[in-house]
Amino acid sequence: MTPRSLLITLCAIAGIACAGQAAAQAPTPTTCEWEWVRPSGIRDVQWHGEEVGPGPEPRMLHPQIFADGGTSLAFTWITDLESVGSVVEIRTEPEGPVHTVEGRSYTWPELEAEPRRRFHEVRVCGLTPGQRYGYRVGGNGHWSEWHPVRAAPAPGSSDPFRIAVLGDSRSNAVVWEQVIAAVSVHQPDLMVFTGDMVGDGRLQARWDAWFEAADPELASTVFIAVHGNHERRSLEYRSLFVLPEDEFNFVLNYGNTALIVFDDSVDNSALADDVAPWLDHALESADDARWTMVFNHRPFYSSGEHGSNRHLHATLLETIDRRRPDLVFNGHDHNYERTVPLRNGERADVADGVTYIVSAGAGAVLHPSGGRWFTEVSESIHHYVLLDVAGDVITGRALRLDGSVLDEFTLGGESPSSQPAE
Ligand SMILES: [Fe+2]
Repeated sequence: MTPRSLLITLCAIAGIACAGQAAAQAPTPTTCEWEWVRPSGIRDVQWHGEEVGPGPEPRMLHPQIFADGGTSLAFTWITDLESVGSVVEIRTEPEGPVHTVEGRSYTWPELEAEPRRRFHEVRVCGLTPGQRYGYRVGGNGHWSEWHPVRAAPAPGSSDPFRIAVLGDSRSNAVVWEQVIAAVSVHQPDLMVFTGDMVGDGRLQARWDAWFEAADPELASTVFIAVHGNHERRSLEYRSLFVLPEDEFNFVLNYGNTALIVFDDSVDNSALADDVAPWLDHALESADDARWTMVFNHRPFYSSGEHGSNRHLHATLLETIDRRRPDLVFNGHDHNYERTVPLRNGERADVADGVTYIVSAGAGAVLHPSGGRWFTEVSESIHHYVLLDVAGDVITGRALRLDGSVLDEFTLGGESPSSQPAE
């Protein structure tokens, strides 16, 4: 695995500095100071300026997270090619003073095709962990609406939070629009997408349709992308999503929970030689977290069409069994499935096993669901998962698009239990 880059090191340094400010007094949101590294292939990088083109209204707006600490967020959006206003105005809710933070913009070949457009990226540091903010983006008299967003709870904090998990929209914008609308009603603090957002990550038109369907809902939830096989490590994917570390494999400490994300769309030797030791170290380092969740695209356990991935079993399952995260989330098989607690290929006690959940019902054509010895609940249906993390208890729900509950479970508390579906 590629060592943590200079960017990451500087990111961590910036986070510490911001955390120091937070400890002193009410911090002031400001531009992050670090060496900025973006994918090779981007063009025409410009710092915030005054030029306004024919289409300066921000679109495809989505806040993202790229560092531990709860003191920073990234805000990204698209305008026409000539507009170079790259500003975030942000205030504590409901009516705090407005702080102005500047950033940069750039383009890439697919964005330069008609209609020619520009991508804006503003990284804001100096936030207060767990704080709820209002923000808008744009500049030079052309602004988005104001949207709410919440900074991450500080690592180790027991502040409650809500995560939405969903996956595999695969260019079905009609259903994806319904899914994201249904998820947003629950106002999650964080959304983790388990991969395969579009059918071909190299085609900007696919991303345009995906973001258009999610507008404006994505503007109010911090978004974490997990790389799927259909994203193809494209320049478009690497540009559109701002994530921690190398942006494919990373650990994010969010409150009392360690979120560990890895990219499984590499060959078996890379899974064995690079991902396995990285995952082992990530899980070992997460020992202090109350909860540990792993996210990758292909399922370790699935009774659906793709089934349990034998390559992951051969290369990574031993690490999972030995380190025992609380939850493993996958996508790829277009349905919902939760396993019984598992360890070493057998059913285990709740306290001793790992629960695997496939959530891949955000729009793609559904796969039949199945039932094997490891299946607790499965259903072939478009859906999403909500996790309410409240200190020592996680309450999980999988919801159909009509709002009905297809699965419900709890982890932790005085009596860890797995409840039947309603
Ligand atoms: Fe997939």
